[in-house]
Amino acid sequence: MIGRPLEVLGEIGSTNDRVMAAGRDGAPEGLAVIADRQTAGRGRLGRPWVSPPGVGLYTSILLRPRLPAGQAPLLTLVAGLAVAEAIERVTGLAPRLKWPNDLLVNGKKVVGILTETASLEGRVNYVAVGIGINVRQEAQDLPEELRATATSLRLASGREVPRGNLAAEIYNGLDGWYREFSAGHLETILARGRERSAILGSSVDVLAGDERWSGLAVDLDADGALLVRKENGTVRRVVAGDVSIRLRN
Ligand code: BTN
Repeated sequence: MIGRPLEVLGEIGSTNDRVMAAGRDGAPEGLAVIADRQTAGRGRLGRPWVSPPGVGLYTSILLRPRLPAGQAPLLTLVAGLAVAEAIERVTGLAPRLKWPNDLLVNGKKVVGILTETASLEGRVNYVAVGIGINVRQEAQDLPEELRATATSLRLASGREVPRGNLAAEIYNGLDGWYREFSAGHLETILARGRERSAILGSSVDVLAGDERWSGLAVDLDADGALLVRKENGTVRRVVAGDVSIRLRN
């Protein structure tokens, strides 16, 4: 279902914008848009996602889950699992999930996921799941300020990774995980998410607007929220929204 239909573009502003517009116009669930280059790629928290041609994988997928609006963040975990496993099949690398939306290899970011939702009367109407992967970048291709914290599949594996193969593995993998999700097998998804987590058991800084606090990341809640135990023993739920998580060394 995922990747049918498939739109392959040379250049677009943002594949997420394209899929949100298609969702509004009644396009079918499963539509995937993939572009060689984005001129206005977007990340979370209003950040740009620099998307030059030839090096990255930029794709967005239209989903129409039957969900209350608040549960859409779980789809970021569903997509994260599909992408991590696809990367593992293609490269042998084992990416870990940095809640809520990054995948890390050797502690460095290689994937970002941007899930955007249109809701109607408290229910999800449609969702764009956008996936950006650093595939073929050499060190000098990564923005200087990101070199310490980001990598690419080529840099981490030493291998050429064909973007088309990787995209196909992602669509096929997401097909399976989205079916699990739609069947309500959320415990299976959460269990796999916990196993793949880069942060559970680690000390983290939580940054939410002007607020900044620290604690131990202890678990994922049933809706995918992160549970963080503060030093005084209280456990706080952290909901993806506008929050950033920093791993403490
Ligand atoms: C992040 O790390 O903040 C999320 C980055 C998401 C980038 C992808 S690239 C394909 C899709 N189109 C966009 O404009 N953004 C997402």
